[in-house]
Amino acid sequence: MKLTYYGHACFSVQIKGRTLLFDPFITPNPLAKAVDINQVPADFILVTHGHRDHIEDAVAIAKRTNALVIANFEVANWLNKQGAPKTHPMNHGGGFNFDFGRVKFVNAIHSSTMPDGAFGGNPGGFVIESAEGNFYYSGDTALTLDMKLIAETPLKFAVLCVGDNFTMGADDAIKAADFVGCKEVLGVHYDTFPPIKIDHAMAKGKFQAAGKTLHLLAIGETHDF
Ligand code: NI
Ligand code: MN
Repeated sequence: MKLTYYGHACFSVQIKGRTLLFDPFITPNPLAKAVDINQVPADFILVTHGHRDHIEDAVAIAKRTNALVIANFEVANWLNKQGAPKTHPMNHGGGFNFDFGRVKFVNAIHSSTMPDGAFGGNPGGFVIESAEGNFYYSGDTALTLDMKLIAETPLKFAVLCVGDNFTMGADDAIKAADFVGCKEVLGVHYDTFPPIKIDHAMAKGKFQAAGKTLHLLAIGETHDF
């Protein structure tokens, strides 16, 4: 599965010729200046929670691409009111079969208020199952024992937050990778803001010492998992 990193917690994964774009936050991110959101492809836009650093470009990209926005009920309806033409609301524990595979919305420990103060439901993560392989994106979260349930699905890779302060840091992300039963990890949600700047070499070394690989991609870089 081909994954492209767009900075912060935004990335896309290609499955069956479809592009799944996660948590679009590109235009306000000075580190992602080289990315032109008018060139970012999407057939589906998956949003984990209502915070600005996960939704900022969702409506613009949904309008341009006519992508289907998949999010919790409150976030999906809020984005629809802002102009996202097509939305698919979900809630925790629920899965749905799309044409590329199955999406399950799973627990995360975090918050989810929308930028205008509206209630954004509760935050989540996604487990994606497809004929090309399965993966888990944690969304913004603390380490939680609920992640052990995800190990029932064999994963090719996991996308985990590693920036600390607002989410798990590297040490807890290593435990999360253990809980979900996955050795290949893409780190996200780091370096964008001063409190989440990380030492890349140190984080990668910690994963290596635990028998795992932490991928920290350059913005715009594509990796085949
Ligand atoms: Ni957040
Ligand atoms: Mn965030």
